[in-house]
Amino acid sequence: MIKTSDSDNSSAISVRHLTVSYGPVPALLDISVDIEPGQLVGVIGPNGSGKSTFIKSILGFVKPDHGTVQLFGEKDINTAGRIAYVPQRGSVDWDYPITVREVAAMGRYSKRRWWQNLRRKDYQMADEALEKVRMSDFAKRQIGQLSGGQQQRVFMARALAQDAEVLLLDEPFAGVDAATERAILNVLTETRDQGKTVVVVHHDLATAAEYFDRLLLLKQRLFAYGPPERVLDPKLLCDVYEGNLKVFADLADTKS
Ligand SMILES: Nc1ncnc2c1ncn2[C@@H]1O[C@H](COP(=O)(O)OP(=O)(O)OP(=O)(O)O)[C@@H](O)[C@H]1O
Ligand SMILES: [Mg+2]
Repeated sequence: MIKTSDSDNSSAISVRHLTVSYGPVPALLDISVDIEPGQLVGVIGPNGSGKSTFIKSILGFVKPDHGTVQLFGEKDINTAGRIAYVPQRGSVDWDYPITVREVAAMGRYSKRRWWQNLRRKDYQMADEALEKVRMSDFAKRQIGQLSGGQQQRVFMARALAQDAEVLLLDEPFAGVDAATERAILNVLTETRDQGKTVVVVHHDLATAAEYFDRLLLLKQRLFAYGPPERVLDPKLLCDVYEGNLKVFADLADTKS
């Protein structure tokens, strides 16, 4: 449901009239949406539709031309510690001499002051997070010596170790195998079940209904936000994707 009223304090993420531009054409135009706490939300839309920009706006990484983003009803978002983020793959160059365990433990720095060292409990949480994404066996390996899919799992572990209220993931399933996709999905579902809010950019429309409680359909503007069965409307998808992906036919079949 798209609410256009004033900010709703019960929302985890409340976006109002958000417009973001990198150049003359806005990447996001007048987006207003309230994301309830404790939801697993999929952000869908074609390439270049503003999905990553939407995530970066919530993080405060890009400056809006217009509009606001509030977290739990607070105007000044102090993202440190409250939001964990897993960037889109390939957007970070990990050519540092740092181990998998150290990367996972980085998630804990947001909970410490800059002069404090990590404690035993922090490393324990990092280890537990690595276990969840099935990367414990690689704990001592340098991050640069992992495959892309393995690196993705370590970034997930870093975000989980942070134990944040909101988890934002930009295409965590891109380029991972089916078993890993399942493992990551299970971890996200578990995180949601702990009452956290999880927002995931997702490309695969075929699995979107199965994976998420809510879908947010973007193409510069917000086309829909709500339960998958409402958002995955064939006509709406045709408008947004301007094409005839096979999945549209499948969806139309199941609806007829
Ligand atoms: N740093 C930037 N400088 C200039 N333009 C940008 C920048 N980042 C994104 N854009 C443009 O803004 C629009 C939205 O990009 P964004 O990365 O948010 O899309 P996306 O939906 O995440 O795409 P994809 O599915 O390919 O990841 C695109 O037209 C893109 O070219
Ligand atoms: Mg993107």
